[in-house]
Amino acid sequence: MAPPDVIVPLPGSQGPRDRRGRPLRDLRISVMDRCNFRCPYCMPRETFHDRYRFLGSHERLSFDEIVRLARLFVRLGVRKLRLTGGEPLLRPNLTDLIGDLTAIEGVEDIALTTNGVLLAKYAFELRAAGLRRITVSLDSTDPETFRRMSGGFGGLEDVLSGIEHARHAGLEPIKINTVVQRGVNDHRVLDLLERFRGSGVIVRFIEYMDVGNRNDWRPQLVVPSAELLARIGERWPLEPLGRDYRGEVAERYAFADGGGEVGFISSVTQPFCGDCSRARLSSDGVLYTCLFATRGTSLRDALRSGASDDQLLEVLHRVWVDRADNYSEQRREPRESAAGARKVEMFYIGG
Ligand code: GTP
Ligand code: 5AD
Ligand code: SF4
Ligand code: SF4
Repeated sequence: MAPPDVIVPLPGSQGPRDRRGRPLRDLRISVMDRCNFRCPYCMPRETFHDRYRFLGSHERLSFDEIVRLARLFVRLGVRKLRLTGGEPLLRPNLTDLIGDLTAIEGVEDIALTTNGVLLAKYAFELRAAGLRRITVSLDSTDPETFRRMSGGFGGLEDVLSGIEHARHAGLEPIKINTVVQRGVNDHRVLDLLERFRGSGVIVRFIEYMDVGNRNDWRPQLVVPSAELLARIGERWPLEPLGRDYRGEVAERYAFADGGGEVGFISSVTQPFCGDCSRARLSSDGVLYTCLFATRGTSLRDALRSGASDDQLLEVLHRVWVDRADNYSEQRREPRESAAGARKVEMFYIGG
């Protein structure tokens, strides 16, 4: 590899901008491609059956490799890390990784997205390792609807207990991500809100997105956030809070009666690519610059063939300055690249 010809910013500087002027601030690290659920919108059972070939452990980045890359990303401007999966709590000894990541100077925020089934078991350990907060994916508090959306699994009680344990462990604020699909769980959103209103837990409704290639996405299945907002507002008046920070994916509203807040993630009807400062790393070390990417840049071979930090930094820098992604803004326009190219799958890249 040639010596680096870029000036690598040091901590405290602003770091590179992509072709749309967006900085790199947020790194989402998938640590495990497997999951103990089969949500039909993410890992439909027909494809992800017993014989599906998931990654072997040697194919996944080791903790040392992840930490090394995270350090380099921080040098380029990353301030926020999120661990994802698949299901990240299936990765053995995950708390060791969290301990190492929280020790990196410059990391201001570290969070984890989980389906919550194993959370009761790990909540205290995660907090002790330095994790600050947690996001739990939960699509319904109705057992039947939950079962349908998790691909036939029970576990609702485990998830609710996991949320309680997380609260006791101080993993706060706890956020809940709820993917809303018309005719599947949209009739249950008020029940779900009722359950968490006033508890400090923040529910965020996500418009069903056309991620990956296997979930049979159709526009009719999307419930626009504006519609949901009107429905919720009829029951509990809401006041807009805007976004917490530049680039936040959720638009926040407060319950006027003091019952806390609720968020809407509206990637389909109100794309937020303009401020997108997120990079994604798959568990086998491929770097993607968009959730809907059709290709990424493998870092694993470079890591395993003795590349120096400067050489790796050069690759990361180049990928970011070349980035022009704004898929959600183009969704409605026919795109040449969309015709044949396969998008990356959500379980692999972590949402
Ligand atoms: P906070 O830091 O707690 O605000 O959360 P976050 O911004 O990291 O959001 P989170 O990881 O909880 O994301 C929630 C969901 O929003 C994800 O699971 C995706 O479905 C969607 N989402 C997050 N980032 C993007 C993005 O860059 N593009 C699109 N289209 N959707 C995203
Ligand atoms: N559309 C919207 N959100 C999705 N998620 C997974 N697949 C989709 C999709 N097609 C969400 C999960 C979880 C996060 C990782 O991504 O519910 O909250
Ligand atoms: Fe697993 Fe989350 Fe995908 Fe559901 S959405 S199958 S819980 S990774
Ligand atoms: Fe970022 Fe791609 Fe999502 Fe747009 S569609 S917000 S560019 S990840």
